[in-house]
Amino acid sequence: MTTKAIRIHTNGGPEVMHWEDVPTPEPAPGEALVHHAAVGLNYIDVYFRTGLYKTTLPAVPGMEGAGTVVAVGDGVTLVKPGDRVAYAGGPIGAYATERAIAADRLVKLPDAIDFNTAAAMMLQGMTAQYLLRRTHAVKAGETIVVHAAAGGVGLIMCQWAKFLGATVIGVVSTPQKAELARQNGAHHTIVGRADLPAEVKRITGGAMVPVVYDSVGKDTFIASLDCLAPLGLMVSFGNASGPVPPVDMGLLNARGSLYLTRPSLGTYTARRADLERVANDLFDVVQKGAVKISVNQTFPLREAAAAHIALESRKTTGSTVLLP
Ligand SMILES: NC(=O)c1ccc[n+]([C@@H]2O[C@H](COP(=O)([O-])OP(=O)(O)OC[C@H]3O[C@@H](n4cnc5c(N)ncnc54)[C@H](OP(=O)(O)O)[C@@H]3O)[C@@H](O)[C@H]2O)c1
Repeated sequence: MTTKAIRIHTNGGPEVMHWEDVPTPEPAPGEALVHHAAVGLNYIDVYFRTGLYKTTLPAVPGMEGAGTVVAVGDGVTLVKPGDRVAYAGGPIGAYATERAIAADRLVKLPDAIDFNTAAAMMLQGMTAQYLLRRTHAVKAGETIVVHAAAGGVGLIMCQWAKFLGATVIGVVSTPQKAELARQNGAHHTIVGRADLPAEVKRITGGAMVPVVYDSVGKDTFIASLDCLAPLGLMVSFGNASGPVPPVDMGLLNARGSLYLTRPSLGTYTARRADLERVANDLFDVVQKGAVKISVNQTFPLREAAAAHIALESRKTTGSTVLLP
C-alpha cells in the first residue's frame, strides 16, 4: 500500500519538494493513522525546507492536518476509526494523504468545524491562544503590537485580542493588508516599519505598549524593543525575515528592565491537558463567532511548492490550506 506525499531529499528552495509514493505507515502502538482531508500551510514548513530548522532527510514536511482516523495501533483509547480529528505540532509529516501520528496529539473536531477550517486554524489559532492568554495574558484596556497582522497567525490574533478588550496596533507591509487587518479587529495599522516606534508613540500618546508580538525576527527586533514601555515584554515568536542574532542583554536594561521570551507552541501544548485546554479555547471562540478563520488561499497538496512561493513572497493573507 502506498500513500502520496511531498518529500524533500535536500534542503533548499521550493523546488526541492517532490510529489512521491511512500509506503502507507502502519500505526504503531499508541498511534493513529489519519486520512487527511486538508493540510495546513505554516511558515515553519519553510524553515524545515530551507534547513533553518533541522530534520533527518528525506522528510515529509508539514505540522498540521485534519481528517478521519482510519486505523489505530495497540493501546489507543482516545480516538477510534471514523473519528473526525485535527492536530498541530511536531513531528513533521503532514504533507501526505495519510500519516501515522501519536494518538494523544489528536483532538476530536466539533461537528460545526469543517476540515478546511480545522487544517487552517489548529497551528495558527493555538499559537494565538497561548500568546494572548498565557505568554502575556492580555487584559481589557491594554494596547498591544502585532506584527504580520494580515497573516495567518496575525488575523486570528487581531480578532482574539479585540475580543479580549485590547486595542491592537497591527504592523503590515501594504495598505491592502492594513485594510484587511482593520476588518479583522486591528484598531490601528502601521504600514512598513521605518517609523514603528514613533508611530506607536503617537498612537499611545507616549505611553508605549506592555507587549509586542514579533514574528518577523531579525528585521524588526530592535524596533520592537523600542515600542515597549518599561517592564514590557518582547515576544519574539518567529523568523520570517531571518533569525534574531544573539542578543546583548544590555539592550533590555537600557530600555527599562524589559522582558524577552522566545516561545513555541510545542512547549505550551506538550502536556495533553494543555493541548486540550488550548484547543478547546480556540474551538470556543471560533464557534461563537468571535474569531473567524480566513482560508484565503487553497492549493492542491501536490503543488505545495507554489504555496511556499506565495507565502515567502508575502502574497498570502490569512490562512492557507493544501488539499490532498
Ligand atoms: N513560535 C510559535 O509557536 C509559532 C507558531 C506559529 C507561527 N509562528 C511564526 O509566526 C509567523 C507567522 O506565521 P504564519 O504561518 O501565520 O505566516 P504569515 O504571517 O501568514 O506569513 C508571514 C508574513 O510575515 C511577514 N514578513 C515580514 N518580513 C518578511 C520576510 N522577509 N519574508 C516573508 N514574510 C515576511 C509578511 O507579512 P507583511 O507583508 O505584512 O510584512 C508575511 O505575509 C512566522 O514567523 C511563524 O514562524 C510561530
